[in-house]
Amino acid sequence: MEYVKYGICGLGGAWMFHSAGAKNNPHIKFTSAFDIDKRKLKKAARIYNMEYYTDYDEFLNSDIDALLIMVPHYLHESLVIKAAEKGKHILCEKPMARTLEECDHMITATKKAGVQFMIAENHRFLPAHQYIANAISKGWLGNVFLVRAYEGVNEIPGLMMPDLWKGDPIKAGGGALMDMGVHKFSTLNWILNDNIESASAWLTKQCTNLPEKAEDNAMVHIKYSKGTIIDLVVSFTVISPPTNSMEIYGTKGTILENHMWQNPVKINSTHKEMGKNKGKWFEPEIEHAPFPKYYEISARIEDSYFTECILNGEKPKFTPAHAREAVADVLLSYLSARKERTVTYKELMEIYNHKNTKTILNGLEKIVQNYCPTD
Ligand SMILES: NC(=O)c1ccc[n+]([C@@H]2O[C@H](COP(=O)([O-])OP(=O)(O)OC[C@H]3O[C@@H](n4cnc5c(N)ncnc54)[C@H](O)[C@@H]3O)[C@@H](O)[C@H]2O)c1
Repeated sequence: MEYVKYGICGLGGAWMFHSAGAKNNPHIKFTSAFDIDKRKLKKAARIYNMEYYTDYDEFLNSDIDALLIMVPHYLHESLVIKAAEKGKHILCEKPMARTLEECDHMITATKKAGVQFMIAENHRFLPAHQYIANAISKGWLGNVFLVRAYEGVNEIPGLMMPDLWKGDPIKAGGGALMDMGVHKFSTLNWILNDNIESASAWLTKQCTNLPEKAEDNAMVHIKYSKGTIIDLVVSFTVISPPTNSMEIYGTKGTILENHMWQNPVKINSTHKEMGKNKGKWFEPEIEHAPFPKYYEISARIEDSYFTECILNGEKPKFTPAHAREAVADVLLSYLSARKERTVTYKELMEIYNHKNTKTILNGLEKIVQNYCPTD
């Protein structure tokens, strides 16, 4: 097989950067599309010369080897399981699902079917993050003791639409934290090579106030098992262009990362491998461009990597278990907000073992603190 025939499932915002990222890849062919919106289907089918379907079973029977799933979060589990049963490889957008039980069902089904399955966690494929992971693993920062991590986007229009899935605790599995926290947790777990021990979260509504929607802003204080402390902030209500940033402080150096910058990483390290840049601020050359380009760059690298895994029969290094862990970290944070105290990972596991992690999401919107001005 020289190329992989992909079926596109969901033609919304995420499709924009996946389609741009895969544009010149000879190993990726988009052959079929599925959505409930016929207008979007017809337009995409015309541009990419695809067949199109509004029936998922018919779509799965079309001429496709793999799926790229980009639909609201409550649909991830059922669509992934059905596709696996049809023997299709699956690249599914983040977060993997809303609960740990849904993640488990997806892992079991894809393992049983023997198909390739990866969550499209583009932050694991950002060149800036690859650089940071490498720098930390080589010891350039020494012992990392503190990280401040941030992501902000503008989802105000979606949050103010009562019927739209964005920010709906059941359809989306939460608000800003479920949506963007998974990016941060996937990245932090990887670059720190560690697991979260405890978390303390604060969920608020700052600029939107539909009672049925969850948080539009969230802050979480986290302790990792090796002792690193994290200050994580995500916002759905930043009206300037989307951005991400991290400040990483270690005993031998510091990394400042900001996706708004042309050079996204600055490092200042006393490690001997820094050579002439030892003890100075240094900006390594990293493929990058501010929003929206960095979305496209990461999707290009990610989609190309997953396609190579299919073609070469190799298991992706970003495993479903890694993606599941990020969902667990979000649920841990939600549990803390519910209990209004710091909670341990062990407490989350108690709920997983004896109840169902869906209980953490039920009525989540009611515990969000509303500071949105009324006039
Ligand atoms: N990695 C990233 O940075 C990033 C960015 C944006 C979105 N995403 C993820 O991509 C996924 C989709 O998000 P989006 O922003 O594109 O959403 P969206 O609302 O813009 O698009 C969703 C699409 O799914 C379609 N759809 C809805 N219900 C459907 C159904 N029952 N059957 C078939 N199609 C249906 C809609 O018509 C729409 O075209 C989510 O998992 C989201 O978290 C990831």
